[in-house]
Amino acid sequence: MTLPNGPRTPKYFRFFRLLKLVFRPLAYLENYAQRYGDIVKIGGDNSPPFVYISNPQAIKEIFTADPNLFESGRGNGVLRFLLGDRSLILLDSEPHQQQRRLLTPPFHGDRLRTYSQLICDITEKVTHSWTIGAPFLLRPQMQDITMQVILQAVFGLYEGERLQQLQKCVSALMDSFGSPLSSTLVFFRFLQKDWGPLSPWGRLLRLKQRVRELIYAEIRDRRAEMQTSQNSPSNRTDILSLLMLARDEAGQSMTDEELHDQLMTLLIAGHESTASALVWALYWVHYLPEVQQTLRQELDDLGERPNPKDIVQLPYLTAVCQETLRIYPVVPSTFIRVLKTPMSLLNYQFEAGTALLPSTYLVHQRPDLYPDPKRFDPKRFLEKQYAPYEYFPFGGGGRRCIGSALAQLEMKLALAIILKHCHLELTHNHPVKPVRRGFTFAPPGNLRMVVTQKS
Ligand code: HEM
Repeated sequence: MTLPNGPRTPKYFRFFRLLKLVFRPLAYLENYAQRYGDIVKIGGDNSPPFVYISNPQAIKEIFTADPNLFESGRGNGVLRFLLGDRSLILLDSEPHQQQRRLLTPPFHGDRLRTYSQLICDITEKVTHSWTIGAPFLLRPQMQDITMQVILQAVFGLYEGERLQQLQKCVSALMDSFGSPLSSTLVFFRFLQKDWGPLSPWGRLLRLKQRVRELIYAEIRDRRAEMQTSQNSPSNRTDILSLLMLARDEAGQSMTDEELHDQLMTLLIAGHESTASALVWALYWVHYLPEVQQTLRQELDDLGERPNPKDIVQLPYLTAVCQETLRIYPVVPSTFIRVLKTPMSLLNYQFEAGTALLPSTYLVHQRPDLYPDPKRFDPKRFLEKQYAPYEYFPFGGGGRRCIGSALAQLEMKLALAIILKHCHLELTHNHPVKPVRRGFTFAPPGNLRMVVTQKS
């Protein structure tokens, strides 16, 4: 058994390889796949290699393998400064599974459906603020919707100074790597220097500290509230309340530090990527008139005041959201899986320490799975059911995104409500390519739309 092929980049050129990863991420992935195939080895001369995988069979083996064979926390270490040591994203093995068991239930079933009306109300409020004929930047508006959903559904914050402060600071924090240039902050350690509040890293650290204080203040107030209302059952349905009441098998509840790190994780992971997905969905629907027409027809058939339950079951709307996350997956690959023991995959043998990286973008662009892959065509999802290793915008296996159901609910309901209340146009009707935003691929921040009609 051999190791797969890959580029042999001299040491002094590696910096330029990283620059390409940051500034031309699609070309970076596509060039390697064209040249070396669907398993590509990067590095590996003096340390275990890094392997990009876009072979569905190999991805199936990774997603169905025992999660204890891999470490992801170490691979995600670069997020430690932002999320905290106990973040679900940074844990492995039993501590990861234990926190996952506590965090998963509020994001599923009836619990999740209780947030449908909330999503519709927030979206309506945001669309009401749009003025006919006045162009607006799409990203901040979608971010406003997804951030409010997280702050209300997860934190139970509906109004007040703390809500506004959190909204302002988290937005500013995420905008610290909102462009390809500022994304270099997370890729190049030598830029991570605190040269005071005006330096990029210094500003970011201060914003993070402020968000941390706000989250701890909320946890403290909630603990006090629970103490005083111990004899009367709380009617709160937000995820923070559920997490504070949750107990593991040993009867242990979450500590303040665990709560802080998980809340920070849900806040950051939960609103950024869903906002990008919504911007993409609106872009595609308005860039392709035939898609908009079919979608509007399907929504109109539900009548004047459609029920959220009926909206989320619409097949074409569902297919539009699926195709949106296929063509340009917001998270371009799953988390890294670092092998704890050697593993054989297809005809290759990988040593412990090898970092495996299933590439969502490259699999979603395979012409054998998705004919004419660069074309946005929701119908492919009406005609065929894809396996979880052929279509995986939310990753897979033991680390699959715990917010996937909430994200899909938000995408469908927000898109439906926006189309119901507004007729929109893109200010420039030209093809748009993803740009890097931290670790994600996002639509360019300057994408604008204008309302032409309201109802
Ligand atoms: C369109 C929106 C979203 C996309 C595309 C997305 C995508 C992903 C992906 C690809 C992963 C890594 C999975 C893996 O490595 O197998 C992930 C993990 C995660 N996501 Fe999402 N996500 C989205 C929305 C959300 C939301 C709304 C939340 C929560 C409110 C959330 C919370 C998380 C968490 C906590 C993890 C870590 C899971 C773990 O390590 O066990 N995400 N997400």
